Amino acid sequence: MKNIKAIIFDAYGTLFDVNSAAEKCKDKIGDKWEPFANFWRTTQLEYTWLRSLMGRHKDFWKITEDSLDKSMKAFQIHSSMKDELLSLYKVLSPFKEVHKTLKILKEKKFKLAILSNGTPSLLNELVKSNNLENLFDDIFSIEEVGVYKPNSKVYDMPVKKYEIKKNEIAFLSANTWDVSGGGNYGYQSIWVNRNNNIFDNLDFKPNFEIKDLSGLLNRF
Ligand code: LAC
Repeated sequence: MKNIKAIIFDAYGTLFDVNSAAEKCKDKIGDKWEPFANFWRTTQLEYTWLRSLMGRHKDFWKITEDSLDKSMKAFQIHSSMKDELLSLYKVLSPFKEVHKTLKILKEKKFKLAILSNGTPSLLNELVKSNNLENLFDDIFSIEEVGVYKPNSKVYDMPVKKYEIKKNEIAFLSANTWDVSGGGNYGYQSIWVNRNNNIFDNLDFKPNFEIKDLSGLLNRF
């Protein structure tokens, strides 16, 4: 990739494993932990899109709780698990290659940042609890613009702050719709296809696809 000045990462699903909260409770939840985790994530995202369309913003932590309530009912998980699941969601684990890859990119002097639906305090806690705080130049939260991805106001934040062109940003997400959102906005976008998924039909294709973040290292 040429002329890239900043590398921007989505957080949930890209740097941090959103299923790790439910997975850590799998002894209590049983075999349904994974479909439950997927349902929780899908509901959480649907609520971000629906609230943005309705013009009724609520922050990502409240949406995470609202979607958990529905998911626990749908999977008949006892309400006594709620606090534990929410606490674990605050300290989600990063994927295994994240720390090492970011360190190498940082040494190559790229500007590195997170751009996420999460609130500033959630994102700061995630980064801190996983010892990643020295690797990022900035953490951009959608709370600054009050609307969720894939609204272009979100992707505009780093361009405004760094005073660089849209296509001087490499944007990475494991969420296909977020790759399309960033690409639609004008980023060079890269799909982190961790689970061998199928890309969306939203009139946009990523610049390229990698299996995990280490796939970046021979590109920069
Ligand atoms: C985020 C969601 C989309 O971190 O994963 O913004």
